[in-house]
Amino acid sequence: MERKTLTTAAGPYIAVFDSGVGGLTVLAELRKQYPNNSFLYLGDTARVPYGTKSPVMVTRYALEAAWFLSRYPLECFVIACNTVSAVALPALRAAHPDIPILEVVTPGALSAVEATQNKQILVLGTEGTIASGAYQKAIHALDPEIEVYGVACPLFVPLAEEGIVSGPIVKMTVQMYLEPFLKKEIDTIVLGCTHYPLLRNAIQEAVGENVKVVDSVAPLTKRLRSHLIHTIEGRPRLRIFVTDHSDRFMRIGRRFLDGNLDEPTQIDLEEMFYENQRLINEPPSLSV
Ligand code: DGL
Repeated sequence: MERKTLTTAAGPYIAVFDSGVGGLTVLAELRKQYPNNSFLYLGDTARVPYGTKSPVMVTRYALEAAWFLSRYPLECFVIACNTVSAVALPALRAAHPDIPILEVVTPGALSAVEATQNKQILVLGTEGTIASGAYQKAIHALDPEIEVYGVACPLFVPLAEEGIVSGPIVKMTVQMYLEPFLKKEIDTIVLGCTHYPLLRNAIQEAVGENVKVVDSVAPLTKRLRSHLIHTIEGRPRLRIFVTDHSDRFMRIGRRFLDGNLDEPTQIDLEEMFYENQRLINEPPSLSV
């Protein structure tokens, strides 16, 4: 299928999409590994969090975001959001069959399967991710004998965003979510959410050194390599888009990107998407 794209000097881009600011943890890692590539980042800051929303809503938002990004020349999409990866992938792939789409659940599952010795894995994620059973499915596709537990940790997201990643509140919160699993023989924990890597130390402390705490980043970064087939035409670039006013994004984003963050461009995703749909569906007017 022919792709209609905006022409830009720095493309083709790797388009990273997340529900908000959390995907910057993934973007930071990808840029470290691929410094000569151009990136687009879209954070749907107007509609975050996705983790508490229904799969239908998350899918609708994700389709709008992917449509916006697909107007640029793209090497591939990277879905940094675990919730989107867990619930919206089939719809995204159906809508964009010509653009490779990398997600984070399969690489996260792979990290966990490689790490576990006793085949007991605990997945931490948003309500949506845990309810979808996507990690369980991905882990069982690699090894059906593994016992997979899951727990939604909704309070981790605001804690990470506020920069509260250690101290008594974090300790209590981590303990509250993990307590029911501490008596089990779990030897591997997957951080199945963009924000949780910021709480890695607190989680590791709660479970002890014998439990491995893994995420999707290393296998995702490796997987991306095979999709980078074009050389970019201009200087590598990073363009950041958000759907709500950017003050909060800048404040929190600096924390996620180690201080380096350029001013993002605010877009009205919904309006642009539906205007585009209207233009496609409206029959051309007859000239008199
Ligand atoms: N980005 C989401 C995820 O990784 C976490 C934040 C949200 O709930 O939107 O699942």
